[in-house]
Amino acid sequence: MFISSLLIIWLCVARPRALAQTVSVTLPLSAPSAAPTISRSLVSFSIEQDRWTDWIGASTKNIFFNNVLQNLKQLSGEATRIRIGADSEDHTNFNPSVQSVQQVFPAVSTIVPYPEATNVTVGNAYYQLASQLPSGTPVIWGVNFGQANITAAFLEARAIATAFTSSSIKNAGVTLEAIEIGNEADLYKNNASRWNTFAANVTATANAILKANVPLIGGAFAESSHSTGGFSPQGIFQNGVLSSIGGSQIKTISQHHYSGSFCSGDNGVLQDLMTKATIRSNLSSFSADISAVHAKGLQYILGETNSYSCHGAPGVSNTAGAALWGLDYALFAAQLGITRVYFHEGIGYKYNFIQPITLTRSILDGSTLSTPLPPHIQPLYYAAVIAAEAIGPSGTTSASQLTVGNAQISGYAFFEGSRLARALFVNLNAFTGASPRKSVHLSLVPSGSGGPTMATVKRLTIPTANATSGVTWGGQTYETSDGKVQGTLSTSTVSVNSGIDIHDTEAVLLTFH
Ligand SMILES: *[C@@H]1O[C@H](CO)[C@@H](O)[C@H](O)[C@H]1NC(C)=O
Ligand SMILES: *[C@@H]1O[C@H](CO)[C@@H](O)[C@H](O)[C@H]1NC(C)=O
Ligand SMILES: *[C@@H]1O[C@H](CO)[C@@H](O)[C@H](O)[C@H]1NC(C)=O
Ligand SMILES: *[C@@H]1O[C@H](CO)[C@@H](O)[C@H](O)[C@H]1NC(C)=O
Ligand SMILES: *[C@@H]1O[C@H](CO)[C@@H](O)[C@H](O)[C@H]1NC(C)=O
Ligand SMILES: *[C@@H]1O[C@H](CO)[C@@H](O)[C@H](O)[C@H]1NC(C)=O
Repeated sequence: MFISSLLIIWLCVARPRALAQTVSVTLPLSAPSAAPTISRSLVSFSIEQDRWTDWIGASTKNIFFNNVLQNLKQLSGEATRIRIGADSEDHTNFNPSVQSVQQVFPAVSTIVPYPEATNVTVGNAYYQLASQLPSGTPVIWGVNFGQANITAAFLEARAIATAFTSSSIKNAGVTLEAIEIGNEADLYKNNASRWNTFAANVTATANAILKANVPLIGGAFAESSHSTGGFSPQGIFQNGVLSSIGGSQIKTISQHHYSGSFCSGDNGVLQDLMTKATIRSNLSSFSADISAVHAKGLQYILGETNSYSCHGAPGVSNTAGAALWGLDYALFAAQLGITRVYFHEGIGYKYNFIQPITLTRSILDGSTLSTPLPPHIQPLYYAAVIAAEAIGPSGTTSASQLTVGNAQISGYAFFEGSRLARALFVNLNAFTGASPRKSVHLSLVPSGSGGPTMATVKRLTIPTANATSGVTWGGQTYETSDGKVQGTLSTSTVSVNSGIDIHDTEAVLLTFH
């Protein structure tokens, strides 16, 4: 009787653990020599410039947007970088008599409920509003190349340089990181000489006002042939763009990338986005380009990226599962030598981290909402928060990918100096709720002796992969009316040699001590 009770207890307690897969993960105690230093602003934002004044606030600062940027700055110690441009950059003209911005929008559709403006006309105040960004924010701003009107590019470059030398922007501590000449100025192969003409004019104009050479973003490529043929970094280098008058001021090559497209209304499958192997194959295809760019001494960024083009796919891009995609995508990008990943954002886009103003139409199908939706974060915002915490504020953190023998769990180690400081694991198995949630036991094996013995464990808890709310990070939420974190921090402490369990659709940060 006594023995059989014990047996039943043993079966109940031990069986679930016996079923869970155990994966052993080696933790390097010091930074591998190949571990790249990782930017504190690894996760940055690209903002569709037609509705820039909605993001920043036209007359007074948009407090919600400011708060969610300040959260990230406090965690990482560095302001999130902002690129303002994209499709509408090539539809923007300048008119000094326009106060801030005037625009013309096409019709709303179910596939694109919040389309980009087709015509944007801006005045000086539009650029001056950058003074409302958090102190220390570096800004990349685009000028019009697509409409082949050099006067438009010239007037915009002049207004940008004038704004960034004004006392209001200088006092705000906001800086001009670079000018981008054209969004996806595709086919430089055929447009190289026109681009060089624009770059000569834009740099001469801006340099004279800034009294310094303005860095340029080169490329902003929509595609890449990954070779010297066609459209690629190697192609523009071969075309001599870097030795042209303006092109010599290129400091950064920017690639745009989406893992899929919703442009024809195919929303795809969330688990496909959340697949460790395709995250790696999407990014690794740029490795040859990254090497070619680094060989020229230039920086390589994903200057505009997100899950699915045409503003994201409903039930995929706007979900908590996408937050795990974004986190793994950015951290793996850094492993390949990509300095920063600018996630694209527009008012009402499905794949946003942030919805900075009240919305009256559904982001999913454009239907009128019965109740307007006030400013809020979307689950992807947690990817920015977790990346900032994992990287930390030292400015010298390096990171290396951990080998995890599970097709859907990725892992990264973070080093302060040479010391192992933190590790992050992401379980990309999409939990749908249809069957019980699975977990994997990670057995942590330090690579030598003298390593940390204890770790603080912080979890990103997600109801189901397709949830659009109800996510918590260490028990706290950013789903608040002002975008500031709320709730009591909840973490646990484990000994390193007991390892951790990680559930489907979960991220776990370990801070070693
Ligand atoms: C939009 O801009 C184009 C090109 O500059 C111009 O031809 C057209 O008239 C403008 N449309 C509107 C509605 O302003
Ligand atoms: C030149 O670039 C523009 C976009 O800026 C593109 O529309 C056009 O097709 C390109 N022309 C050639 C000949 O490559
Ligand atoms: C740039 O182009 C504008 C418009 O054609 C012209 O007025 C200006 O003088 C040019 N500036 C430079 C430095 O080439
Ligand atoms: C080019 O831009 C200038 C400056 O805004 C504008 O006056 C002019 O009409 C534009 N040209 C064309 C062909 O759109
Ligand atoms: C990128 O990821 C998507 C899934 O999100 C996949 O369908 C596509 O094949 C991947 N592309 C590459 C080049 O790996
Ligand atoms: C998530 O998927 C389940 C099962 O398909 C569905 O019932 C539920 O409504 C979805 N949730 C959201 C937020 O879309």
